[in-house]
Formats: sequence, C-alpha cells, structure tokens
Amino acid sequence: MDPESRIEELRTLLHEHNYRYYVLDDPTISDGEYDRLFKELLELEEANPHLISDDSPSKRVGGPPLDGFDQVVRAIPMLSLENGFSDQDLLDFEKRIHRFLNSTEQIRYSAEPKLDGLAVEISYEDSVFKQGSTRGDGTTGEDITEQLRTVSSIPLRLHEQVNGRLDIRGEVYMDREGFAQLNRERTEAGEPLFANPRNGAAGSLRQLDPKITAKRPLKFFVYGIADPTQTLCRTQQELLDYLNQLGMPVNGHVSSCQTINDAMAHFRHLETIREQLPYEIDGMVVKVDDFGLQARLGQKTRAPRWAMALKFPAVQATTRLLDVDFQVGRTGAVTPVALLESVDVGGVLVSRATLHNRDELERKGLKIGDTVLIQRAGDVIPEIIKPVLDERKGKEQPIIWPENCPVCKHRLVKPETEAVTRCPNPHCPAQRLKSLIHFTSKAGLDIEGLGKKSMKQLFELELIRDVPDIFLLTEDKLNNLDGWGELSAQNVIQAINEKKQPTMGRLLAALGIRFIGEVNAALLESEFSSLNKLASASRDELLEIDGIGTQAAESIHDYFSDPSVQNMLEELKSAGVTIKKPTTNQERLPLSGMTLLFTGGLKSLSRSEAKKLVKEQGGNISNSVTKKVTHVVAGEKAGSKLKKAQELGKEIITEEQFVSLVKHDR
Ligand code: IVH
Repeated sequence: MDPESRIEELRTLLHEHNYRYYVLDDPTISDGEYDRLFKELLELEEANPHLISDDSPSKRVGGPPLDGFDQVVRAIPMLSLENGFSDQDLLDFEKRIHRFLNSTEQIRYSAEPKLDGLAVEISYEDSVFKQGSTRGDGTTGEDITEQLRTVSSIPLRLHEQVNGRLDIRGEVYMDREGFAQLNRERTEAGEPLFANPRNGAAGSLRQLDPKITAKRPLKFFVYGIADPTQTLCRTQQELLDYLNQLGMPVNGHVSSCQTINDAMAHFRHLETIREQLPYEIDGMVVKVDDFGLQARLGQKTRAPRWAMALKFPAVQATTRLLDVDFQVGRTGAVTPVALLESVDVGGVLVSRATLHNRDELERKGLKIGDTVLIQRAGDVIPEIIKPVLDERKGKEQPIIWPENCPVCKHRLVKPETEAVTRCPNPHCPAQRLKSLIHFTSKAGLDIEGLGKKSMKQLFELELIRDVPDIFLLTEDKLNNLDGWGELSAQNVIQAINEKKQPTMGRLLAALGIRFIGEVNAALLESEFSSLNKLASASRDELLEIDGIGTQAAESIHDYFSDPSVQNMLEELKSAGVTIKKPTTNQERLPLSGMTLLFTGGLKSLSRSEAKKLVKEQGGNISNSVTKKVTHVVAGEKAGSKLKKAQELGKEIITEEQFVSLVKHDR
C-alpha cells in the first residue's frame, strides 16, 4: 500500500479507537495495539512530512509552546445564563415565557446537568477540527486550538460529512478521579494544589505549552451549537442526538421534559445522584426544547430568555479576613492561609481558607480587614472567592508577601519554572516539623497518639529533632509533660514499638522524599530487596523501573547521596528500626507475594483505602500492567488495562473477591 493510503487508513483506525475509548468508554483493542498503530503513523508521517495534516491523531500530543493567546472574535456570542435557586424561580421562569409568548401553551424542556468546567467553542470546517476558543466575554475569547486538540474526547474529525462551518459549544472539565490523581502528583512534586476540578480544568487549558495540557486529564461534553437553524434539528433533544451521531460526547443525564414539573423532578434526581457522579455539577440547565420557540423568545443583554441555570444551594458565605498566615510545608513551599472570622458555611464552621500561592493571592486583590466571599469547594478546602469591594472602609491593609522564611528567616526563592515560592533551607524548623508530622501520620508509619499536636509539642521541647528521636522516646520522658499521663505515655510508646518494623515501602513513603508517594514507594519496594541496595542504585537503574520518572529517579538519588540522610538511617537502625523482610512475617499475610493492579471504579471502598489494605496485607501495588502484576482487580467500567491484563493472562478478580481476600483472616 502506498504511504498516503496507509496514513489515511491508520488515521481512520486511530480516530475510531480513540472514540471507542474516550467517548464510548468501550475499547476494542489493547493499549499496546493502539500504541503500535500510533507509532506506525508517526513514522510514516516523519518520512512523509508533506502528508501531515491538522486532523491527524498524531497532533494530540501537543504542538510547540505559544508566546501568548490570540483573540477570537465570534459573530454569535456565547451567552451566559440567568441563575435560579428554588422551585419558585423555576415556576417564575415559565411564567415569564408564557407572558412573553402571550400564551399558556404547554412547553417542553431539555433539562441538563450544569457541568462545572469551562465553556468552549469548537469550530469544524468540512467536518475537520479547525479552531477552539474560550468563552472570554462572550464575543471575544482566547484561541486555545492547540490546547483543545489534546483533549481526547473532542473529535478531530466528525463522523459524518458536514459541509462548511459548524461551531459547537460545550464544557471542558476534569473528573473527580483525574483531579484527585493530578493533585496527588502535585503533592508528590511539592507543587501547589488546585482547589477544585474547575480550577484544574481552567489552569490546564490556559497553559501556553500544549504538551502540558496534553498530560492533564481533561474531558469534554457538548451541549449546543452557535446557530441551531443551520441543522435540520428542530429541538435541543434532536440536536444532542445529532451531535452524538457526529461523534461528540453528550452527557448521559439529560432529560427530555414534557412540563416544568418534570424538570423540577429531574432537578431532585440530579441532587440525589450528584455525589455519585464521576464529575462535579453545580446545578441544572433548563432549556426550552423547541428551537422555533427559542428564536421567538430571543435574549436579553447577556442571557437568553429560553434558558435558566437552576443552581444547587450555594455553600458560600461572607466573613472578615483577619490576617494572612504564611505556612511553610514539608518541601519548603510557602502557602498563604487566610485567617477568617469564624462563619458557618453550609453547616461547617470555617475559620481558615487556603490562598494557594502568590499569583492567586495577587489575582484576588485582597486586603486585610476586607469582607470576603468564601466558599466550600466540593467537599474539601474552603477558599476565598473575592473581596466584597462595596464593604471597603478605607482602613484595610495591604497583604505583604514575606521576603524571608517566616520561620527560619532564610531568603525565599521562586524558581522561574514553578508557581511556588520556597524556603530553600533544608534545616528550616518548619520543614523539619512538617516532615516529622508526615512521618507519624497516616500517610507515613501511622503511629497512634503522635498526631500534629503532640509532634509539635515534642518538637518544640526538643524531645524529637529528627526521625530517629521518635524511636528513642521513653515513658519517663513523656509522662510528666503537659497534657500527658502515665497511660497516654505508655500507649504511645507501645504504638511506636509496634511500628519499629515497617515494610520498606512504608518507610520510604514516611520519609517524605520528594516525588515518592505511596505508589512510587511501593514500586521501589518491589524492585529492591533492601534499603541499602536502593540507596546505592544509580539514576539509570532507577529510571529502568516501570513507573519511575526522571524527577523521581533524581530525587531518590539525591536523597540517598546526602551524608546527613545516611547518618539518619544509621541512627534509625541503632534505635531498633528494622525493615520487615517479605520472607518473615509477611509471607503469612493474605496478599504476600502478590502485586495488584486496580482498574475501573470500586463500589465498597475508595482507591486509597483499597491500596492501604493491600499494603497492610503484604501485597504490592502497580499502576500499569507490568510483568510483576499478579492480580488485576477489575471494578466497574474497567477499560483497556483490563483488556491488556487479560491478553497477558493475568488473574482477574472482582472487587468482592478482593474484599474477601483481604478480610480473610480477620
Ligand atoms: S447552555 C445560552 N448547557 O454554564 C446557553 N451551559 O452561564 C448557554 N454550562 O459558562 C450555555 N453546563 O459553560 C449550557 N448543559 C449546559 C451547561 C452549560 C454547563 C455552563 C456554560 C456557561 C454557563 C452558563
């Protein structure tokens, strides 16, 4: 076959498999086969550069970095939506429609989840992906074509021929799992976390380097087009079906409603399934279904009369910003934290909120003494949305970013390539305390009774200055301290003794080496038979391990080359800490000798709980299908990893089997 035809054939195949994987969630080939086809295409394109085209799947990896974002001006603006918050607001919405139409005819609606991401427009020309842009102010947006091209669920080629231009609109978002994973990686890398999936999606799309965007777990749902009269569809429901047919992902919880009461019922339904959805939604969008009626209703200045966003009850509140505290984390990263007048936000008392990093802080334009609007994002960290400028009295004070570490006074640094300001002093007491707290926390050795408060106390009394000191504590040293008694001292010493034989993975994760979280620690444990072997491994040896990247390899190598670390490890040994060998105790644990891979969704426990159980029961974890993997736990909607594992003849078990395995002898 000539290269041109083969390239065309490969592209068609890759488009189809991409669609099956990302849109239908139903792959029919393994990752390996996909990679082979992809590689073949890359090689052919490299040998025949004149045949490279914009809609080639090879373009998904992200092109060269941009200098800035160009503007895109659109003829049909992207509108915003009027917000409603109650049943009454929804009934009033219909009343206004009836009044405007001067009739009380029954109106059908499309009721759709309001996805909490970023609105984008994507233009196709003769069915080929041409341009993508942000909403911006509605009329003028930013050109993010190269960033959107990397989002796998956006088709680069429509499944049917559509002549001329088609401007579709929808939401780019990050699902909960992708968001959590991204933040885990950022924790390991000591980078600032995204407050919520929405910020994660926005931050990822606004990367000037599309290769970074390509690595982010972005997804897409389509919900409309710029000009519906351009198709033969008469209603929103027909349009969504049509877009689906063109290969676009359409949200599965859209409901076609005969009456406004049906829409209300769908809102209740969405409220009940909200937490179980794999992505965040912040309400429902109700749209008059019929395009003819939509056209008659038209729009006000910025929002159409034919649609409304019905929001879930807001978990927002206003309070006062009393001060800003600058905290130094385990890796030296400085995080500004807002100290607030306590306020109830949706049933939770909030007195602190993260401000993330310097850029975020400056972007918000806050002053001390400001009245601020705060929000509990998802279920985790509360954040400040903005200052309420109308409430300014003139006495508010500017927030001054420290030049020196608030704890050790070392000059702070901000590497060009990072968003974080850091205290570079490894002896900084704040970093040392945070590392010690990490060591005894659940993510570390999980020593009961040595929580944040006790660790801080013992650190300040200099009873614990470094990790080995933990194991040199005695009942005598503890039982006379403030807040301690004989019993609590006895319990803590016992708890410490129980943790004197950690597995290697546990110890590594506890030491808090940059880029070495639980998963990498487990990987290292399964590769190295002793800590000494790991400590003397070269960068190249480390890099050979499936799953260990350059940064992690560098970090481990640097860590173990540090003489003070070698000293510390010696002291640990003298204090009686030994690594539990997989040959002794562990062999009797239910998962000894097994390496498990989880794929798909679990019902009865979270991923992290499952992984913890595996480790407690002597097993190892892998994130990819390697030869080490002995068992694959296939949850709901398990995808390509499962297929690959099946092909390799790995033992596949269900979630229920896994649970009975780990609970076996308890
Ligand atoms: S329709 C005029 N449908 O909500 C119609 N918007 O303020 C405008 N959104 O930024 C959009 N899910 O990104 C529509 N199913 C949905 C939506 C949706 C989320 C967002 C949209 C826009 C905002 C509207």
